[in-house]
Amino acid sequence: MNLVPHHIAIVMDGNGRWASKRYLPRAAGHKQGVVSLRRCVKACAQRGVKVLTVFAFSSENWNRPEEEVAGLMALFNMALTRELPQLMVDGVQLHFVGNRAGLSPKVVAGIRKAESATTSNTRLILNICFNYGGRWDIVQAAARLAAQGVQFTEVALGQAMAMAHVADPDLVIRTGGEQRISNFLLWQSAYSEFYFSDSLWPEFDEAELDLAIASFGQRERRFGRTSDQIVALASMGS
Ligand code: IPE
Ligand code: IPE
Ligand code: MG
Repeated sequence: MNLVPHHIAIVMDGNGRWASKRYLPRAAGHKQGVVSLRRCVKACAQRGVKVLTVFAFSSENWNRPEEEVAGLMALFNMALTRELPQLMVDGVQLHFVGNRAGLSPKVVAGIRKAESATTSNTRLILNICFNYGGRWDIVQAAARLAAQGVQFTEVALGQAMAMAHVADPDLVIRTGGEQRISNFLLWQSAYSEFYFSDSLWPEFDEAELDLAIASFGQRERRFGRTSDQIVALASMGS
């Protein structure tokens, strides 16, 4: 089996707790979360991962205190501008996945600019899920098909979803110790391998990433078949 996943998706959780442990405001944790993301993007590119998808702001995160939401929006905008030069150097192609209708014109303009600047980069695709929810995605895809009068099939729905430009994630990592999906890639994670880390997102480093990739390398992905069938298929392929 392929030891390095083609597509890794991450629920970057634990920024707030990282800050609280240090008697810092939660915003300091989010800021450190950007540093951790930068490290993770570089490490994934170096390891030959082709697609990295990260959960940065969920449909439900609007329920947080107004001040925290405003801080996250400002940080997002700042990071978009600041990180762009390094993303260009690293060959990263950015995609924003989520409901843009709910975002301010300033944020949407920043997204458009970053996407078009990186469109020719080919080393790593980085999907940032922002104002994203798995349920939102399924509903928007279904509504689009219905409006076009297209018959609902798994293929048609998959192609109408916000992640249609990439294959489904092979490995979904969640940091921060919680073992739940929190409305992340509900449709696309149907056959993903899951890896839960107790590390808080700001402290998730290269060594932690390698542990997750090593765990993935130990898994037998059966997609409904038996183990004997998988062994037979692998020997035919080799
Ligand atoms: C994840 O960290 C970042 C976002 C949801 C924006 P949290 O902010 O959820 O951190 P904890 O879970 O409170 O520690
Ligand atoms: C999931 O984390 C969303 C992101 C990482 C952006 P949350 O911290 O919002 O998830 P819950 O509320 O603990 O399930
Ligand atoms: Mg959290």
